[in-house]
Amino acid sequence: MSGPSAPEVKMTDRKSIAEISSSLPPGIERVFFTEEQVDARIAEVAGEIGRKYDGRELKLIGVLKGSVFFLTALARKLTMPVKIDFLGISSFSAPAAGGAPGLVRISKDLDEPIQDEDVLLVEDIVDTGFTTRYLLHTLAGRGPRSLGICTLLDRNVRRIVQVPVDFRCFEIPDVFVVGCGLDYKQLYRNLGCVALMNPGKLEP
Ligand code: IMP
Ligand code: MG
Repeated sequence: MSGPSAPEVKMTDRKSIAEISSSLPPGIERVFFTEEQVDARIAEVAGEIGRKYDGRELKLIGVLKGSVFFLTALARKLTMPVKIDFLGISSFSAPAAGGAPGLVRISKDLDEPIQDEDVLLVEDIVDTGFTTRYLLHTLAGRGPRSLGICTLLDRNVRRIVQVPVDFRCFEIPDVFVVGCGLDYKQLYRNLGCVALMNPGKLEP
């Protein structure tokens, strides 16, 4: 079920990467995946999810705010009955956490229980894995019938703790990206593409 890494961008794409990149806001270096590529891949992954949960009802749980754009796009492509709910989390940086890495806590809980439901945790990106592991552990304790992970982006090269990713749209290298829900200082979540961010380009 693992997804492909960066697909080759064909020049037949409606707009070339160079064209799109030249119209991007400051600080955005270049496009990684075009909006068309993202949409097509989400449709493929929705097909995989549909086959796995065939004939069942699925609850999608999104992590605010990054996964909102991906979750809604994915949900629109699913054909089984789908419920959605959201979790808010705060991550503590190492100094604030007294040196311990990867501390996460829930700042907004789910609205409904998940007992005996088929649950799919929907993430924008699995990076070190700390956030996902914490959420998996928390949700598993609430007695779902099953619990899976679906992520738009997987940056496996930076993984510190292992988590079982069931569905991924794209594997990415060790670069910071924005768009499709991912932010830089809360900006750029609304970009339809996934783009490489270079904060250095923002400096005067
Ligand atoms: P993890 O706990 O290290 O796996 O971090 C996951 C969270 O870090 C994600 O849900 C994002 O909010 C954030 N994050 C990690 N990499 C990026 C990135 O490249 N762009 C934007 N946010 C990121
Ligand atoms: Mg973020």
